[in-house]
Amino acid sequence: MTAAIQSLTGRSAWKALEAHRQKVRELHLRQLFADDPKRGERLATEAVGLYLDYSKNRVTDETLKLLFQLAEECGLRARIEAMFRGEKINITENRAVLHVALRAPKGTSIIVDGEDVVPQVHAVLDKMADFSNRIRSGAWKGHTGKPIRNVINIGIGGSDLGPVMAYEALRHYSQRSINFRFVSNIDSTDFAEAVHDLDPSETLFIISSKTFTTLETMTNAHTARDWSLKGLGGDVSAVAKHFVAVSTNASKVSEFGIDTANMFEFWDWVGGRYSMDSAIGLSTMLAIGSDNFRALLDGFHEMDEHFRTAPLEQNLPVLLGLLAVWYTDFFGADTVAVLPYEQYLKRFPAYLQQLTMESNGKHVTLEGVEVDYSTGQIYWGEPGTNGQHSFYQLIHQGTRLIPCDFIAFVGTLNPLGRHHDMLLANVFAQAEALAFGKTPEQVKAEGTPDWLVPHRVFEGNRPSNTILADRLTPQMLGKLVAMYEHSVFTQGTIWNIDSFDQWGVELGKVLAQRIVPELESKAEPALGHDSSTNCLIRRYRQLREKTL
Ligand code: F6P
Repeated sequence: MTAAIQSLTGRSAWKALEAHRQKVRELHLRQLFADDPKRGERLATEAVGLYLDYSKNRVTDETLKLLFQLAEECGLRARIEAMFRGEKINITENRAVLHVALRAPKGTSIIVDGEDVVPQVHAVLDKMADFSNRIRSGAWKGHTGKPIRNVINIGIGGSDLGPVMAYEALRHYSQRSINFRFVSNIDSTDFAEAVHDLDPSETLFIISSKTFTTLETMTNAHTARDWSLKGLGGDVSAVAKHFVAVSTNASKVSEFGIDTANMFEFWDWVGGRYSMDSAIGLSTMLAIGSDNFRALLDGFHEMDEHFRTAPLEQNLPVLLGLLAVWYTDFFGADTVAVLPYEQYLKRFPAYLQQLTMESNGKHVTLEGVEVDYSTGQIYWGEPGTNGQHSFYQLIHQGTRLIPCDFIAFVGTLNPLGRHHDMLLANVFAQAEALAFGKTPEQVKAEGTPDWLVPHRVFEGNRPSNTILADRLTPQMLGKLVAMYEHSVFTQGTIWNIDSFDQWGVELGKVLAQRIVPELESKAEPALGHDSSTNCLIRRYRQLREKTL
């Protein structure tokens, strides 16, 4: 008989944290900083070029000790090793979880089902590099002999968000003579707007889909094929020059009509939301070149090694992950705001949403038992300083606790006058204001009339991390993304959930497939949904003609 699995809330560190939470509940960051003048230096750590200041969190040394103890009790170390060894830790899909293999250097080895996957990874990278060089140099010609000037990635979820985010983040390093666009939504506007000013003879489509069955992507891919062929005189041989595929599914790729010689492979041990550094990153490589892409992978790998080997106390992803658990489960925080003070990272919060919420939005444990604690968090955010003039009011003076991750870079890629000093002054000021606020006494001392004082008080005690790095480079982006990937892993390990499946997206997909024929049928369909869904379908069918 196997020993009963210890429930998370029954663990001694968890119980100790609950008791400890009562003790620290009223503790204010003002007090914590006053009691320890070196707190800002002490509760900060630096690794692989990333400086993490976590001193403005509502934690004491005791809190941290208990959180590390919780990580030990939950077997975090063993779990990390299991992932890096290629064990099938995605148990509901019986798959290894090996995004770390995508950035493993040549010559290393990771065995999955008896096969070393690292040489396969490098073979695909070499194929991508060769293709990328031909497109970027103009050696690859379209059907009419023109070089490619437009690249459109068609994909959704992990086959879109990573590529979009990376393209925006690394635009500074991109080849400006090529336009990059991304089509994801099944809404025809997405495709129509992406191609409206483009010439098919200069346009390459990358059809990115792990499964090559996703409704949105396949619908857009067929529309792209029609658009392309129409513009190129209908000769199907044009497809070979204007379409490439990134997928794990070779048979579906050839069924679509793309020669598998023009397919860039990846594997089922790469989760969609963990795939931006696989062949799914083909558009990224086309934009920034193969050397920069390899630098991106090096950055990922450096963070992987740090995560695998650094002591928990100095381990950036572990610290971020444990702090997220602390606020989720002991303060009832529902969200984390990710606030990059770097315009190039404008799609980073959207990217993190899939990474974190698809991974940790789970309600049962690995054993299938309903959890009796909160899991997952809602990640959201906008680049600074824009958010300051929008939603920061609620973070500063609202009734909810919203831990924030500020991300900033010492150097800017676009130095212009005083902009960067002012940008950085703002990020430091926001973290300071959130933590320390402004007391009624301070507000009164400014001559504020009594009736206005409550409105102008800032309670403070609002937690944040500040992540500071020297400059946004491909390598740095890799480190940043890997840090969050492993923070998600840390949280999932504590919560004892499968962070690598996504069954929650299935039901809506299945229901949509059932509704499509009901919308398209000429004859009035017999509807067997609930009364609300039936009414909506009927109303759409009745009114559709009038809107055309
Ligand atoms: O939204 C569900 C999902 O399966 C994601 O996990 C994935 O990133 C996305 O759909 C796209 O899937 P595919 O790459 O197979 O088209």
